[in-house]
Amino acid sequence: MNHFYIKDNRLYAENSLVEDLAKEFGTPLYIYSKNQILANYREINQPLVNSKLDFLNCYAIKANSNPEILKLLAEEGAGAEIASGGELYLALKFGYLRNKITFTGVGKTDEEIEYALKENIFNFTVESLQEIKVISEIAHRLGVIARISIRVNPDIDAKTHPYITTGMKENKFGIDSRDIMNVFKTASMLPAIDIIGIHSHIGSQITDVQPYVDEVRYLGELIEKIEKMGVNIRYLNFGGGFGVAYKNVLTHRYIPTEDDEIKSYASLGEHVESVIKLLSQFNKKLVIEPGRSLVANAGILTGKVLYTKEGELKKFIITDTGMNDLMRPCLYQAYHQIVPLTLKDTGYETVDIVGPVCETSDFLAVKRSIQKLERGDRFAVMTTGAYGYTLSSNYNARLRPAEVLVDGDKYQLIREREKVEELHY
Ligand code: LLP
Repeated sequence: MNHFYIKDNRLYAENSLVEDLAKEFGTPLYIYSKNQILANYREINQPLVNSKLDFLNCYAIKANSNPEILKLLAEEGAGAEIASGGELYLALKFGYLRNKITFTGVGKTDEEIEYALKENIFNFTVESLQEIKVISEIAHRLGVIARISIRVNPDIDAKTHPYITTGMKENKFGIDSRDIMNVFKTASMLPAIDIIGIHSHIGSQITDVQPYVDEVRYLGELIEKIEKMGVNIRYLNFGGGFGVAYKNVLTHRYIPTEDDEIKSYASLGEHVESVIKLLSQFNKKLVIEPGRSLVANAGILTGKVLYTKEGELKKFIITDTGMNDLMRPCLYQAYHQIVPLTLKDTGYETVDIVGPVCETSDFLAVKRSIQKLERGDRFAVMTTGAYGYTLSSNYNARLRPAEVLVDGDKYQLIREREKVEELHY
């Protein structure tokens, strides 16, 4: 069930009319559906519970770290995948248990490592031999043992956008598969280091299960070799990456059908089932780190048309929201469905929907077919719950948007619109 839907030609978020929320809180405004987040979490988590495997489901909090959303998933029992000291602070502050926090990233600073060691987090996912040595030194100095998982770069093509592919030779992530045996060997001899697992995250927005199947096969063979060397692997961490649909999210006779190059999407359940099936043979504990799949379709960004303008070559719809609120279109040419909050039978026109920022790359959509929009019309940019607000910026000294969480008939402001006095200039 989709918790954003159209009824009587108007867009709803659970039981609230989006237009009403946009009027009450102003635009740009991120709106999230609590019940969509919970449904996504349960779709991923339930097959793991049913499998009776020992597992940890660590939410990749970089996807959306609004405090209310963090608390919601912590209360459901999620752990956290963090990528910085700042994210560790947030995870601890908003309810994640230390023994469910895993710290990934190629460039952890000495201060971040010390902070995480002092907090006694569950795991460091390490990405180079130098990093392992630094962790060992700091842990030794503090008189503690660091639990680590070594991230391997398996050179598997996740068939996603090059900027969010992480498991190929040309990517900075993980340790080259030619060096991996040596790294395990060297690390196993270092003081204050306990190697508990192996990690691999091959990319984000993966829509097919095959790359995961290839990844598990690869890891299975690798684990066998590592264990022959005498290192016991207890945890197998697959990272995140489960993809979501960005096109045809809402369908209606006044919304054009979008041409989707991806013909079939594996459901969240299918992604998890495929991993569980393969994993059962290894007798390891499983860690997954979903981000986008938990929150992307649980969020929309609403904006308002400021002006319309005819150029010689195209028509522009100029809006009050753009790249500083939502970077994905400008950064990855990402496609987000855009839906007027009130649908009308005006026929379609092809337009560029752009933001107010002084950059040509400040667009929400290029050559988009959409109903005729006029000054004052409000619209929603769909599927923006992940990597939306967290990637936002103050460029052009613009203020970050407000955020609202809807729950059935109720809704609450979960982050106020930034104020000009809060800009750190
Ligand atoms: N684990 C690790 C080590 C990661 O680096 C990431 C995401 C995840 C888990 C969560 O992946 P997810 O389930 O969300 O695909 N800003 C980009 C996505 C960047 C992903 C970064 N790493 C976007 O908007 O598409």
